[in-house]
Amino acid sequence: MAEAERIDGKAVAARIIETVKSGTAALKETAGTVPGLAVVIIGEDPASQVYVGSKAKTAKDCGFTSIKHELRAETSEETLLKVVRDLNADPQVHGILVQLPLPGHIDEAKVIQTIDPDKDVDGFHLINVGRLSTGDTAAAFVPCTPAGSMLLIREVLGDDLSGKNAVIVGRSNIVGKPMAQLLLAANATVTIAHSRTKDLAAVCRGADILVAAVGRPEMLTGDYVKDGAVVIDVGINRIDAPEKGLKEDGTPKTRLVGDVNYEEAAAKAAAITPVPGGVGPMTIAMLMANTLRSACRAAGITPPKF
Ligand code: GUN
Repeated sequence: MAEAERIDGKAVAARIIETVKSGTAALKETAGTVPGLAVVIIGEDPASQVYVGSKAKTAKDCGFTSIKHELRAETSEETLLKVVRDLNADPQVHGILVQLPLPGHIDEAKVIQTIDPDKDVDGFHLINVGRLSTGDTAAAFVPCTPAGSMLLIREVLGDDLSGKNAVIVGRSNIVGKPMAQLLLAANATVTIAHSRTKDLAAVCRGADILVAAVGRPEMLTGDYVKDGAVVIDVGINRIDAPEKGLKEDGTPKTRLVGDVNYEEAAAKAAAITPVPGGVGPMTIAMLMANTLRSACRAAGITPPKF
């Protein structure tokens, strides 16, 4: 087979951001509404700080009001719940995102269920989970990573996946399960596989669409990929890259890899997302799209189609 098409998530994400910017300008013009996104972070985890900083910056670039609440790691659950309730009540806030994971003393489920479902731009509230699983994709906020992955699949295969076998590796509430619902809504035949699946490679080789969301660096080798498959790699793993030399502290430099062995999979697939530059940029773009949708809904205006 010829080398696979490299699906350019950065380019697709940039297009979505442009649509968000023009939709935001139109919403300001017609309704005088400025979309507002509030991100809440607890503690000093460096990776979470980077994610949240980049969400807040992109929100500003889109023309949103961007609010960032940075709380100390020792913040009590009650204090966090009050922050969430205040954001629920603030009419200038259309999207609320509480960065996960939360410190161990806080009940994550309780915090998520306290977010107003109509401001739940992460799509984690049970109301949105229910809307998505009953096929009400118009009303649901869909979690950003699977929503972005689905857009990349549509770029390659179009909107109707009738007759296609999709295999998702990973059964998380944030990626695997909502991904399955989206693929099902697009008429694919869906299998969710995971670490306890028997002969995982053989199951994956049945996939016309293979979505990897396991969090294990380069676990899916060429042996997992059917000729001509579309491969979506959701994983972002940092591994040592001694070939790049040493950092100042004497430890090896690192690089990012996905859950798929790119070279091996690309030799068989028809199309594949790289890491970085595939699903990653789509996640933030979809968060902006969800926030604009929420602001449009609040103003009674039809949002752009993404
Ligand atoms: N932590 C890692 N990914 C996410 C995400 O998509 N949303 C939130 N809220 N926290 C995360």
